[in-house]
Amino acid sequence: MEKVSIKTSNNFCPQALFLYGTYKEDGTPNFGTFCWFSYCWDSEMKVMACIGGEKLTKDHIHAGKVFSANLATEALIPYAEYFGNTTGYTKGKMDIPIEIEHGAVLPVPILKASPWVFELEVEQSVPLNGGEIFICKIRNVLAAKELTDEEKSAEERMELVAPVIWTSSGNGQYFSLNPIKKETFEKNKT
Ligand SMILES: Cc1cc2nc3c(=O)[nH]c(=O)nc-3n(C[C@H](O)[C@H](O)[C@H](O)COP(=O)(O)O)c2cc1C
Repeated sequence: MEKVSIKTSNNFCPQALFLYGTYKEDGTPNFGTFCWFSYCWDSEMKVMACIGGEKLTKDHIHAGKVFSANLATEALIPYAEYFGNTTGYTKGKMDIPIEIEHGAVLPVPILKASPWVFELEVEQSVPLNGGEIFICKIRNVLAAKELTDEEKSAEERMELVAPVIWTSSGNGQYFSLNPIKKETFEKNKT
């Protein structure tokens, strides 16, 4: 395959999306959308999450050291788009109809519609120039019950989850994995 050098980019390197849930000081929930999320090994599997700039989610993580990471699915795309393009500093960001529950182990809000949720506790943070990496202990995984059915194949269970990936090419696009197709949706329609 003939290749050309281009400016630094991760376009076309698909990224899974997570909606991070935190509580505000008044106990109400806030969600933001994040893709700079991956895993690392430190005696056990941990999560690495990078947040750039000033975000309400970041303020809450600094304050409480905990958050939930809710896997985004095809059904959650409109919410991913809304939570990712509406700053938490906007009054009324969370005045939308969405079912929210409480974490099983940590004081974090979680999305009822997400089939895979990590409850995360920050163990270390690495301040960077304009960003910060949080290395987190996975305190609990909440998985949709159907996903524990070993009778079902991985393909069947992946189809149930219906996760989406995102690329930052153009204005950013969401793709389904079942099979890869461009998901269409109306911006900010929740
Ligand atoms: C698809 C998508 C992925 C995003 N990924 C990240 C990310 O990995 N890191 C980050 O700092 N911001 C990311 N953002 C931007 C935040 O979601 C955005 O700044 C949001 O307003 C934060 O909400 P908050 O202020 O309630 O925390 C992403 C936005 C979108 C739409």
